[in-house]
Amino acid sequence: MRQGRPSATALGAARYRAEHQELDGASLFRDPLARAIVGDDGGSSVGSHHLPVARREAMRGFIAGRARFAEDALAEAVRAGLDQVVVLGAGLDTFAYRNPYPGVRVFEVDHYDTQMWKRERLAQAGIAVPDGAVFVPVDFERDELTDELAAAGFDPSRPAFVMWMGVTVYLTRDAITATLRALGGLAAGTELVFDYGVPAPEPADERERALRAERARRLAAIGERWISFLTPEEVGRLLGTAGFDVVEDVPTTEIARRYLGLDVRPGPVPRLVHARATGSGPVDLPAADVSPATHAVSTAPRESDADPVGRQRVIPILRVFDHALAREFYCGFLGFDWGFEHRFDADLPVYAEVTRDGAVLHLSEHHGDATPGSGVMIVVDDLVSYHRSLLDQRHRNARPGIQENPWGATMTVLDPFGNRLVFWQRT
Ligand SMILES: C[S@@+](CC[C@H](N)C(=O)[O-])C[C@H]1O[C@@H](n2cnc3c(N)ncnc32)[C@H](O)[C@@H]1O
Repeated sequence: MRQGRPSATALGAARYRAEHQELDGASLFRDPLARAIVGDDGGSSVGSHHLPVARREAMRGFIAGRARFAEDALAEAVRAGLDQVVVLGAGLDTFAYRNPYPGVRVFEVDHYDTQMWKRERLAQAGIAVPDGAVFVPVDFERDELTDELAAAGFDPSRPAFVMWMGVTVYLTRDAITATLRALGGLAAGTELVFDYGVPAPEPADERERALRAERARRLAAIGERWISFLTPEEVGRLLGTAGFDVVEDVPTTEIARRYLGLDVRPGPVPRLVHARATGSGPVDLPAADVSPATHAVSTAPRESDADPVGRQRVIPILRVFDHALAREFYCGFLGFDWGFEHRFDADLPVYAEVTRDGAVLHLSEHHGDATPGSGVMIVVDDLVSYHRSLLDQRHRNARPGIQENPWGATMTVLDPFGNRLVFWQRT
């Protein structure tokens, strides 16, 4: 987000919802205010007018479908007695202005600049703001969500329904973690729905690569890059430690099956999650999973006398020259997960995180980041099994052996860029 500027992707998503009413007959999601809030500006959805028609249709289906997923769950929650709704990163969402549930209050949370712009749009469109709708300006990267909600009249002692659509991909992991932990501290029975992007391999298809690069360029130009991608395993762990039980976590292709009866092959598509707070609140994270920003807004007790450096994880950066090859080796062969991936622009070097259980490495194509040929020690619990699993793959260039040393057994693996990974089982 650029300071002083409203979210352009919020306008893009709203345009898709408006077009869904007009072009798809609202087959997935009916929103009589969708066009009014966008206005007849003749614009196309941000970052998408270069897309082929089929791709735009799919995007429209995704944006309308995720709103349907959220509002179906919301209707169920209201039937069960919940009377507070929180729309996080609301953008131009219109639920608050067509809220059909008497007595249900809606707290719209968003970045201050987007919220100011939305209020102007509502006024221009002649859309009345009902008494039960409350605006809560929050920056997920900086502010303490629950404090701001409470100051706006939200009652944390009663469960709420929270929707958070189209936002996590724009946030840092720390902000995502902190927000989930703040929500996990709300009353038992609080329901949360949100979507998240999954890490996707670099497409083999040239046209697809070009489309992705173009999208990245457009998003960078408006200051709304996609920066966080999560695996379902990571989301499960984040939710579990934040104090949630997962009700379901499905690929967005499920929308087509559930609402339209279509069988669409799941690929690396965004996912939709529905979770319920257990009421036990967030658990303390292992020190290695806690960054200073997560601490800042965590509801977990702070250890104010803890050493500010020693509690943090030290992460080695290894130089790589080809992220596709790095991914193949680290994930395909060594069994790491590809975590976040960042580049300043589509044709610039990649910086990525790989993790396996507690082990975290950063791999960088930036020439200034590290010298090839570095060595790192990675402590493992069962070197013999891991060694066997690597040999079973019969890798062309990596068939490591185990060496017994006075300090324990080690297995040295050279990556394709000359880095030395020493897996070490301490004696
Ligand atoms: C793609 S829009 C989605 C809007 C809406 N949820 C929808 O589905 O149409 C992303 C939203 O996230 C909000 N956002 C992005 N970064 C934020 C931050 N750090 N703090 C608060 N809101 C943020 C933007 O203001 C914008 O409203």
